[in-house]
Amino acid sequence: MSRDASSLFTPYILGGIHLKNRIVMAPLTRNRATRGTDVPHQLNAIYYAQRATAGLIIAEATQISPVGKGYAWTPGIYNDAQIAGWRLVTDAVHAEGGKIILQLWHVGRFSHPSLQPGGQRPVGPSEIGPENAMTYIEDDTFANVLVPRAMTHHDIEATIHDYRKAAKNALAAGFDGVEIHAANGYLLDQFLRDGANYRTDTYGGSVENRMRFPLAVVDAVVKAIGAEKTGIRISPTTPAGGLSDTNPSAVFFPFVEELSRRKLLYTHVIEGATGGPRDAVPFDYVALRQHYHGTWMVNNGYTRDSALDAVESGHADLVAFGHLYVSNPDLVNRLRTGSPLAEPVRATLFGGGAVGYTDYPEASTVS
Ligand SMILES: Cc1cc2nc3c(=O)[nH]c(=O)nc-3n(C[C@H](O)[C@H](O)[C@H](O)COP(=O)(O)O)c2cc1C
Repeated sequence: MSRDASSLFTPYILGGIHLKNRIVMAPLTRNRATRGTDVPHQLNAIYYAQRATAGLIIAEATQISPVGKGYAWTPGIYNDAQIAGWRLVTDAVHAEGGKIILQLWHVGRFSHPSLQPGGQRPVGPSEIGPENAMTYIEDDTFANVLVPRAMTHHDIEATIHDYRKAAKNALAAGFDGVEIHAANGYLLDQFLRDGANYRTDTYGGSVENRMRFPLAVVDAVVKAIGAEKTGIRISPTTPAGGLSDTNPSAVFFPFVEELSRRKLLYTHVIEGATGGPRDAVPFDYVALRQHYHGTWMVNNGYTRDSALDAVESGHADLVAFGHLYVSNPDLVNRLRTGSPLAEPVRATLFGGGAVGYTDYPEASTVS
């Protein structure tokens, strides 16, 4: 089989979802929801519909509650207006023959009081903040992420409820499923890793305890919408969000075994530092995949060649591309034909309107 006809461009059946190819648009925060309401709108629908030739789109991280928010102008999925806004997006993607999943997000400690209801302190597993971390707030400036308030058992129960509700809302908005965001140093990752979780109750300490809340969220979402509609994203060795762990293998091998048992839609793994080196921390991602039965999606720094290798070798079933989807709406076609790839313009990544969002041309229209 020639490389061009390789399995990367062949269909794949993901649960009950028929994908045209194995190429996935990774979740990409673009901070372009309606200001003041965090409601998605028509421009967001145009942007996602432009990228509907991906086998699967994972829509940007979307807060499950006001407390789950950590950056300016990110979308929500906790009220009727947000459901209606997302319906514009899912209808537009489906009209183009695409499939789309929503990434469910709670940032945990990675927030700022100005983004929180009543100006309250953000919450996290323990009263320990990331060092030298900043987030972007709604007066258009960066602000320091501070020490969070440690979540009570009541907070944990309420948050599980918020995930459950958000998953149902996502299906009501027309999504084909959800991806639980347990990566990149946000709430569920904070509970998993000993760099942020200093708890001495049943949610901290041993690996089993640290997995308890993330797995309770998975189980609640599965119960609400079904395992065949529930995916998850993890990032065992990323330093994103100022997070670390003294022994990532000790947590993520058992965690992936637990996920495997739950027969989820997929597990999506960021290999290495998100958007950075793949091997800064030693970790056996090939062995991790072997601990999992089911669809395995990989991400981070993949190129046409390495994506082909990953699928052909059986390391991955699906490959997600992040920054290249900002600037190449027709990425599938460019990878198929080997056309040059455009790089994103950094200044227009976060916030703003159509510029640097819906105006990246397809390869055939580049003069
Ligand atoms: C502009 C931008 C926004 C991102 N937003 C998210 C997000 O909302 N959720 C998430 O899990 N990862 C997010 N990421 C990480 C990407 O999904 C992906 O993991 C990263 O870009 C590495 O993949 P790549 O090498 O193909 O770009 C973002 C990355 C970029 C560049």
